[in-house]
Amino acid sequence: MGAPRIHHIAITDDWDMSELAGEYGAATRGVAYEPGGHIRATTASRVQEVLDERYADLHLPLTLVTLDPGRLEDAGIPVEVDADGTARILGEIPRDGSGVVVETTALQYVDGRWRAPALDAAGADLPEPDDHVVIEPETLYIGTPAFLIVTADVDGRPNVAPASSYWALGRMLVLGIETEGKTADNLLAGSDLTVSVPSPDLWPVIVRLATLTGRNPVPAAKAHRYRFEPDKFPVVGITPQPSDLVVPPRVRECRLQFEARTRRLTPAVDGGYLMVEAEVVRVHAASSIVREDRHGELQVDPARWHPLVYAFRHFFDRGDEVGWLASSRTAPHAPVVD
Ligand SMILES: Cc1cc2nc3c(=O)[nH]c(=O)nc-3n(C[C@H](O)[C@H](O)[C@H](O)COP(=O)(O)O)c2cc1C
Repeated sequence: MGAPRIHHIAITDDWDMSELAGEYGAATRGVAYEPGGHIRATTASRVQEVLDERYADLHLPLTLVTLDPGRLEDAGIPVEVDADGTARILGEIPRDGSGVVVETTALQYVDGRWRAPALDAAGADLPEPDDHVVIEPETLYIGTPAFLIVTADVDGRPNVAPASSYWALGRMLVLGIETEGKTADNLLAGSDLTVSVPSPDLWPVIVRLATLTGRNPVPAAKAHRYRFEPDKFPVVGITPQPSDLVVPPRVRECRLQFEARTRRLTPAVDGGYLMVEAEVVRVHAASSIVREDRHGELQVDPARWHPLVYAFRHFFDRGDEVGWLASSRTAPHAPVVD
């Protein structure tokens, strides 16, 4: 929602002629605007008052010109609006279709009085034009961490896969895992899991993993893009690192690693994936990304931690820090939000 619209009462002839000139410059009641002067306008609530006070004795067709003050400012024409609704436009009104003029309304003279049309009660706070277009994006991955999930089969053989459907609440992770993969097989057979989060420089590992599956035979739907690989770790250049509490190993090259116990698998509505709820039972963080918080406890240092962000099939480092929560134990002071 932009600034409230403002309204100028124009003599209709002046307004119509200004279309040819490309600019409207009658300050009030047909008096020409002078450079350094202003064109009078008002907010919605005062239009009737202005008509009564200044136009009652005028019997020429009048037009109410509704203007977008933001667009005027964009066009380099300052607008001043006083608390009482009086507005001044410090320049001529462009008639170039730039959106400055929102609409025009022919005013009606009824029963001896000019009548203001029904304007938006809240002061003509008309919605901004919708600047969005409807699209059919190829994916809805708006920017989530890419991570490596490791599970183990019943014989303890690990399988690593890239994934990005992730959210966390408290100590619980909820992951979305496709049913057609080896990862889902292992989870359904009772495997716990690890989540290892790569840094941005490890994005090529994800690309190499993107065509490998531990499922044999490769499911038909994946056959055009995937090949079976029973031991992906050496093939893509990463190293299994034994976990403390669960069977699946972590990925040594990742600076942040979670060991988690699988708590619940819930089939999705279309059967294509599982919602995996897993409880994080141990967190490993490289010493290069930790620091003491104000209670002397080790935390991930948000300034030094850079997850690999996956957005619309592209990989990103994260951007600059823009703020923090009041509850952060690593923040230098309370956030300043006003
Ligand atoms: C960047 C990226 C993100 C992915 N995200 C997911 C995901 O969130 N969940 C999922 O099940 N598969 C995801 N996949 C696809 C799996 O990695 C793929 O299904 C693979 O076959 C799984 O390996 P597996 O069959 O050995 O388990 C993603 C793949 C890539 C490259």
